[in-house]
Amino acid sequence: MSSTKLFSTFLFSLTLSLILQTSFGADPLFHFCSNSQNFTANSPYESNLKTLINSLIYKTPSSGFGVASVGIDQNQKAYGLALCRGDVSASECKTCVSEAPKEILNRCQYNKGGIIWYDYCMFKYLDTDFFAKIDYTNRFYMWNLNNVSDPSSFNYKTRELLSQLAEKAYVTSNFYATGEVYLENSVTLYGLTQCTRDLSSNDCKKCLDDAIDELPNCCDGKEGGRVVSGSCNFRYEIYPFVKE
Ligand SMILES: *[C@@H]1O[C@H](CO)[C@@H](O)[C@H](O)[C@H]1NC(C)=O
Ligand SMILES: *[C@@H]1O[C@H](CO)[C@@H](O)[C@H](O)[C@H]1NC(C)=O
Repeated sequence: MSSTKLFSTFLFSLTLSLILQTSFGADPLFHFCSNSQNFTANSPYESNLKTLINSLIYKTPSSGFGVASVGIDQNQKAYGLALCRGDVSASECKTCVSEAPKEILNRCQYNKGGIIWYDYCMFKYLDTDFFAKIDYTNRFYMWNLNNVSDPSSFNYKTRELLSQLAEKAYVTSNFYATGEVYLENSVTLYGLTQCTRDLSSNDCKKCLDDAIDELPNCCDGKEGGRVVSGSCNFRYEIYPFVKE
């Protein structure tokens, strides 16, 4: 599929998911099934995947991040990763990371790979080792439907805030940063940046810089937006969206 076509599919689905998300807060934001092969019921891959999922549900909540791989035979081995948003509690993280694999397995039935995002977490699994590499394959945008009145100055300040938060995130142990800046007329801009912790800190920075470069394509002149990938994401809004 050409990237242009893929992109327009995103646009449609995203507008839809944005609308759905408003009415059902805990619904997934988006998902992709990988293009890799299918597994069959009761295969070793399925059993490894189930073990992997349980391991990630157990491992992830305490720190908000988990990676695991299960299996010995290369083509039956499953790799997975889960990440919770930096501000969510261990119990919220656990709820999200428990729900995510059920949902993605259902949406990508018998597919050897998939990725799903929620507000509170993301969950990814694949039959090949994807750790410590920037994910350029799985990425989507979301935006607030409201337009700002002064796009050029607003866009500038958004980029400035997110760049500062990228600088902050990649030198922080959990690769997570939030911050805000007062604009004018009682408007405050809130931002968040986060990377998965399998990346090197330089790759975290690179991933976020690449995402921030997508601002004009994603959320030009919009009151809020997100660029979300399998390795990093940012979000900005003119209202607070993370817990202190
Ligand atoms: C995997 O399964 C799906 C759904 O059953 C099917 O549409 C798809 O063609 C299969 N893919 C491969 C690579 O066999
Ligand atoms: C924002 O601007 C776009 C493009 O000019 C327009 O189509 C859209 O209706 C506007 N959105 C709102 C919520 O006013």
